[in-house]
This record gives sequence, C-alpha cells and structure tokens, in this order.
Amino acid sequence: MNILILGGNGGIGRAIVDECLNRYPEATIHATFRLAQPEEVHNVVWYQVDVTQELEMEALSQRIPKVDWIVNCIGLLHNEQHGPEKNVSAISSDFFQQNIMTNTLPTLLLAKHFTPKLKLSASPKLATISAKVGSISDNRLGGWYSYRASKAALNMALKTLSIEWQRSVKNGVVLALHPGTTDTHLSKPFQARVPEGKLFTSQRVANDLLDIIENSSPENSGKFFAYNGEELSW
Ligand SMILES: NC(=O)c1ccc[n+]([C@@H]2O[C@H](COP(=O)([O-])OP(=O)(O)OC[C@H]3O[C@@H](n4cnc5c(N)ncnc54)[C@H](OP(=O)(O)O)[C@@H]3O)[C@@H](O)[C@H]2O)c1
Repeated sequence: MNILILGGNGGIGRAIVDECLNRYPEATIHATFRLAQPEEVHNVVWYQVDVTQELEMEALSQRIPKVDWIVNCIGLLHNEQHGPEKNVSAISSDFFQQNIMTNTLPTLLLAKHFTPKLKLSASPKLATISAKVGSISDNRLGGWYSYRASKAALNMALKTLSIEWQRSVKNGVVLALHPGTTDTHLSKPFQARVPEGKLFTSQRVANDLLDIIENSSPENSGKFFAYNGEELSW
C-alpha cells in the first residue's frame, strides 16, 4: 500500500505518519513538509512542497508512481499578522485569500493531479481534514470568517468531487474529517476555553481518523465525519 500524507510535519499530520507506520508496516508512506525536513524514518519518503503552488503539486504527482490513500492534513487558522476575525471589520483580503489557498485549493489540486493514479488502486481514498466550524448549519457563534468560509468551500469541493468519482473512480471514497480540538500549533492560542477532556492529543486523533478512513467504503463517500464517527451536517 502507498499512502500520501500532506503536511506530514504538522501536529496531526505527523501523528498520522507515525500511526500509519505502526498500523501498516508494509506500506510506503509518502509525506510532505514545507520548510524543515523531519528526520529520516524507515518507510517514509519526504517531499518538500508548498501545496498552494500548482506546479509543485503537479511535480509531486510525477514523483509518486502509485498511491492508494491520500490524507491531507494541511491547514491555516492564524499567522504572524492575523488571527481568526472576531468581526467583519477585521477582514483582510490577503488573509482571506491565504485561507482559501491553504485550506481549500490544495484538495482540488490533489484531486486534479492524483485522480489518474488513484484510479489504479483497488480501494482509492482521498480524505481531507476539514473542521466543524466549516459547517454552515452548525454555525451558532459567528466570527472566524476566513477560516469558516475556506472550510465550507473545502466541504463543497469534497462533496462535488465525490459525485464526480461515483462515475469515474471505481470503489473511490472521498471524506471530509473533523478532528476535534487537538493540541497543536494551530489550536494553541485558543485552548484556554476548551472544556476539560475536550482537548485531544494528536496521537489520539490520528488513531480515530485512521479508524474512519480504514473502515470507510464507497457508501460513505461524500460525507463529513467527526473523530468519533458521528456524521456531521454540512
Ligand atoms: N488542531 C485543531 O484543533 C484542529 C481543529 C479542527 C480542524 N483542524 C484541521 O486539522 C488540520 C491539521 O491541523 P494541525 O492542528 O495539525 O495544525 P498544524 O500543526 O499547524 O499543521 C498544519 C500543517 O499545514 C502545513 N502547511 C500550511 N500551509 C502550507 C503550505 N502552503 N504548504 C505546505 N504545507 C503547509 C504546515 O506546514 P509548516 O509547518 O511547514 O507550515 C503544517 O504541516 C488542518 O486542516 C486544521 O484546519 C485542526
């Protein structure tokens, strides 16, 4: 089996790399990082990729001859200049576009450049980590415009891809996954108000999300699942 993990140096992504090594010792794990290459690990091939650049994604697809599962763990919530917006006056066009470029576009680029390779697999799966705050029907608190909008757009992209795959990719599964609040760089500034017992380790989340991916079948394609297996509404 060949598994490609995007953002293999991130909090959840790294834990997914490690859990794949643990569960599938025969598999080849292809994993991406952006800046600093993680240490060499047997059975892991590292690639440096900025996932917002289509040429780099295309080049990545040319370097990986076969792939069965793709797990996209890339994400952006805040950067040095901007945090999630408290109200609409905080909108910055640059930050909004960066959210779309990081949280939405890469999944479509993956689908474009890897679908021909996934078609060669007997059980092809493409899972992207989304976020429950991207659910329109679940939005009760408001705020976080750019992140919410980019994850809602990601969800629509995944749903739309699942419909295309029904016709074109035999046994294909497309999944949107919510990890729950996980103790990583991304959630660090927002952990103070997380209720007790609701801040998960990346190891736990990797385990939960891989259970969902492993047990998914084409009937689950185009759905949005939380870490505990609950199906979330769009
Ligand atoms: N943590 C949570 O509580 C939580 C909750 C809901 C959803 N999520 C989602 O879970 C996913 C993983 O998040 P995380 O918590 O593991 O965050 P993280 O530790 O900050 O990891 C984010 C990853 O995205 C990579 N990345 C960002 N922009 C990139 C780019 N242009 N090109 C290549 N790589 C890029 C980062 O690489 P660099 O480090 O090299 O920049 C890093 O590997 C995200 O989609 C996030 O939205 C997380």
